[in-house]
Amino acid sequence: MDISPTKHIFAATICATVPAVALKLWKSSNLDHIPSVGYSSWLGSYISAFKYVGNAVQILQEGYAKYKETPFKVPTLNRWIVIIGRRHLEDIKKSTDDELSLIEAANEVAKVDHLIGREINSNPYHSSVARIHLTRNIGLYYPDIKDEVHTAFEELLDLKDNVWKSVPAVEIMREIVCRTSNRVFVGLPLCRDPDWIDLNSQFAVDVATDANILNMFPKLLVPFVSKILPNTAAGIERAIKHLDPIIKDRLRRMRDHGDEWSDKPNDILQWLIDAKQESTTRQLTLRVLTINFASIHSTTNALYNLAAYSQYVGPLREEVDAVIREHGWTKEALALMYRVDSFLAETQRLEGLSVPVYENPDAFDPFRFSQLRVDGNESGRHQMVAVNQDYFPFGYGKHACPGRFLAANELKTMLAYILTMYDVKFEDSVSRPASIHWDLNVMADPTVRVMFRKRVI
Ligand code: HEM
Repeated sequence: MDISPTKHIFAATICATVPAVALKLWKSSNLDHIPSVGYSSWLGSYISAFKYVGNAVQILQEGYAKYKETPFKVPTLNRWIVIIGRRHLEDIKKSTDDELSLIEAANEVAKVDHLIGREINSNPYHSSVARIHLTRNIGLYYPDIKDEVHTAFEELLDLKDNVWKSVPAVEIMREIVCRTSNRVFVGLPLCRDPDWIDLNSQFAVDVATDANILNMFPKLLVPFVSKILPNTAAGIERAIKHLDPIIKDRLRRMRDHGDEWSDKPNDILQWLIDAKQESTTRQLTLRVLTINFASIHSTTNALYNLAAYSQYVGPLREEVDAVIREHGWTKEALALMYRVDSFLAETQRLEGLSVPVYENPDAFDPFRFSQLRVDGNESGRHQMVAVNQDYFPFGYGKHACPGRFLAANELKTMLAYILTMYDVKFEDSVSRPASIHWDLNVMADPTVRVMFRKRVI
């Protein structure tokens, strides 16, 4: 699974809260007592910071080899990052938002206050709405996820007969994920509108670009420069055009019928309206954009692994075919797909944020987690949505990703659908592309194409 270029805003480092640690330490005390990797002199740290952009993984590995569980720091272009060991994860979990702040860290990197709006951080009720409703309603909206994944694959791949067709993997996967998430965020028909999908994919890139520009200016100038940067602002206006008639219609129905009406939508937009914290189109649009922004992810690396390791297709299909035959495409069926879950968890472990506590930590061992579950070892601990000291692609502590059950259900449905309906392989002479590392982001190679054909049984 790749973490999108902007996912670092939430998921950047060994644990996403680490930049916040750095930020706080920077403000409240000197970091000199923490050993650094690379040069620590003023000029030297800039040289190390440039190296770090392209070699973050090697530099962190070097630091880990040298300091193990002891904190160490690495210079990046505009701040020091402090890397902590697993034993400090409990301190993070116990800390209050005043002591360590994910929001402040996100704001530092993405300039959310200036580019999207101060209210996003001063009242992050969209996170609570996602945390409460996304998980509670999953049984209700799962049929929509399934329908969107199936429809999107059929429409976007548009396969004829039994002929192989080559498609741009990252693009297709991103679109399917965006459509599916938006089925749960704003519902039909908007979730299929090409302009809506495009603007939401673009929004993440625009915020990252504008934030990078703002990060080059002194703090005092940021509020003024942010007003003249066109990209993020244009995305917001584009989104408002789509949502304005929908929001007005829903508010009218609420005025006419009260809080409940017969075909009341069950989506994030409606849960945000029901929270009654904000009511204008602009305010609600900013929340929907922010949730989209946080949720942009794709499953391309899992697809690459499927195309590369054909020996695992048989055991995966054996599981998926048997479970679907007995339970149909249901949430309950997904819960029984241990191997599919494990394949995705292992992809996420290797391509995302992980710790070297596993046997053969560098090997892709897709059934590592399902085997542990079969062996009866604390089943919940080895699922892809797990959050524990050994496994935290979705973060750790009270800010752990509230969208992880949605993400897991989407990704499992996608992988299971591919296994059921298609054969996949790389184009001739192409092998599994290495992921692209930039700073702490891990991205699937966007230039690679994958071949699909209808499954030959
Ligand atoms: C594979 C996909 C995803 C990954 C890897 C991921 C990862 C993360 C991580 C690492 C964090 C920071 C957690 C922490 O600080 O402990 C986070 C936070 C967050 N994620 Fe996700 N996420 C994914 C999908 C989603 C989806 C589908 C949503 C949709 C609602 C979402 C919404 C959020 C929000 C709102 C936060 C902020 C939570 C808070 O401030 O309390 N994410 N995510």
